[in-house]
Amino acid sequence: MAEALQPRVFEASGGVWAQLRVEAMQAAAEEPLLASYLHAAILHHERIEDALSYHLASKLGDGDMSSLQLREVCQEAYNSDPGIARLAERDMRVVRERDPACRVYLQPFLYFKGYAGLQAHRIAHWLWTQEREILAFHLQSRISELFSIDIHPNAKIGGGVFIDHANGIVIGETAVVEDDVSMLHSVTLGGTGKERGDRHPKIRRGVLIGAGAKVLGNIEVGAEARIAAGSVVLQNVPPRCTVAGVPAKPIGGPCCPETITPAQAMEHRIIDANPDSGAAI
Ligand SMILES: CC(C)(COP(=O)(O)OP(=O)(O)OC[C@H]1O[C@@H](n2cnc3c(N)ncnc32)[C@H](O)[C@@H]1OP(=O)(O)O)[C@@H](O)C(=O)NCCC(=O)NCCS
Repeated sequence: MAEALQPRVFEASGGVWAQLRVEAMQAAAEEPLLASYLHAAILHHERIEDALSYHLASKLGDGDMSSLQLREVCQEAYNSDPGIARLAERDMRVVRERDPACRVYLQPFLYFKGYAGLQAHRIAHWLWTQEREILAFHLQSRISELFSIDIHPNAKIGGGVFIDHANGIVIGETAVVEDDVSMLHSVTLGGTGKERGDRHPKIRRGVLIGAGAKVLGNIEVGAEARIAAGSVVLQNVPPRCTVAGVPAKPIGGPCCPETITPAQAMEHRIIDANPDSGAAI
């Protein structure tokens, strides 16, 4: 019988931002070579949105658009919609909870492409909602170049989303990714090429998508479903169902108790739908 899964929870007193600052102070003391970087990226700032504006802009800026200009754009987005920064905190918390390689909040903030790409997409999406399409496309292009994540600025991505490794992520214009989804590298949420208009997948809450999975067309992946690595999904997936293969077929039920979603558990084993049997399929 598979051992019962429990979510890893890191409740930082004072919140994610306060904990990030503590970690940055400790790291600066332990590794003087990184001290000025840690000060510039984190310790110099009052709020997480100020730190993110600086950090994202310093990466996204280039000869076409300076970091200074991009920093002002980020600040404008965070000031106009404070919810974007709350999503940034929530995303950082779930990376720490779900990624066994993540020891400290400093890792996603400074180094994880999935986290940085998602936060930069949130700025591009805000620009899209403000009808500043060309600047949104500029950001999409830079995000793709830097972080290997190509997300159309119109794509709607919920909170608590974890994109592990990031390399080769593609998310199309009319895709929806609801709250608390996890996906690994090389996932495509794309069109079939046969449809126009609303043509991309709708990924419901708590879904786990394995590395290299291709989900194609305006189909629905139900809440807390799982998609095995390398699958090509062409049809709706029922809630709490596991699909695998090319083309993907149902191969099992939920992997975990109802108190924890597949996305939280990051549980890739295939367990029989009957939790009492404990049998692997
Ligand atoms: C478009 C596409 C999904 C197939 O469309 P289609 O020709 O209308 O085929 P259907 O969806 O009717 O499927 C026909 C059969 O082939 C299977 N099939 C379709 N695409 C398949 C694929 N990529 N791999 C394996 N089998 C596939 C279907 O399951 C179906 O099998 P069945 O008859 O046993 O049920 C497929 O050609 C494809 O993968 N296109 C690439 C799209 C892409 O790369 N999008 C990314 C954009 S970012």
